[in-house]
Amino acid sequence: MPSTRPQLRVAVLVGSTREGRFAPVVTQWLRGHLSQRDDMTVDVVDLAETPLPTVLPAFGRPPAPGTEEALALVSPRLAAADAFVFVTPEYNHSFPASLKNAIDWHNEQWHAKPVAFVSYGGLSGGLRAVEQLRVVMAELNATTIRNTVSFHNAYGLFGEDGAVDDPQVDTAAKALLDQLAWWAHALRDARALSPYAA
Ligand SMILES: Cc1cc2nc3c(=O)[nH]c(=O)nc-3n(C[C@H](O)[C@H](O)[C@H](O)COP(=O)(O)O)c2cc1C
Repeated sequence: MPSTRPQLRVAVLVGSTREGRFAPVVTQWLRGHLSQRDDMTVDVVDLAETPLPTVLPAFGRPPAPGTEEALALVSPRLAAADAFVFVTPEYNHSFPASLKNAIDWHNEQWHAKPVAFVSYGGLSGGLRAVEQLRVVMAELNATTIRNTVSFHNAYGLFGEDGAVDDPQVDTAAKALLDQLAWWAHALRDARALSPYAA
């Protein structure tokens, strides 16, 4: 039976801005899974397409000229989201500076919202990046989803059509998005009942 609840707005945050990055392959794979769901609408926030400055303003001071325009392309989309999926590689046992920069520019946009992770990298599949992101997002009053999808030695896993020939990956993606939906509904309902006390 189709759900009567309003669709969840899911923002996919693409963390890598590296030239020649692999991120679009993983993001396209994720979009394929999200497109199969009738409970979610998707907004892909690609930090390579909407770069943010790396100089934060002094406390209590407005952003530097030009900064507001850059933020306007990102911040309202994060604010509108009910849930997030971060697509992150692993850089030096952590996540990219571009992703941390986007996280740090924002605060209440993350509050009382769930964050799921799709990671990729070498042998570790980006799992060390994910574990560090959990600590960061806890500080921002977000809830991180237990399950992950991680692509280990990612370059060899995707076919010409962008698909991954492994049913376990599809199962993992469904579990991830099901958990994200549960938390997103619960937290959206809770935020509607009373503002989150950060
Ligand atoms: C600066 C840098 C550091 C990296 N460090 C790691 C690492 O610590 N562990 C790992 O498994 N892969 C590491 N890699 C491999 C990346 O995870 C892999 O190349 C991935 O495709 C990068 O994502 P991107 O192509 O979307 O930027 C590193 C890559 C770069 C560019």
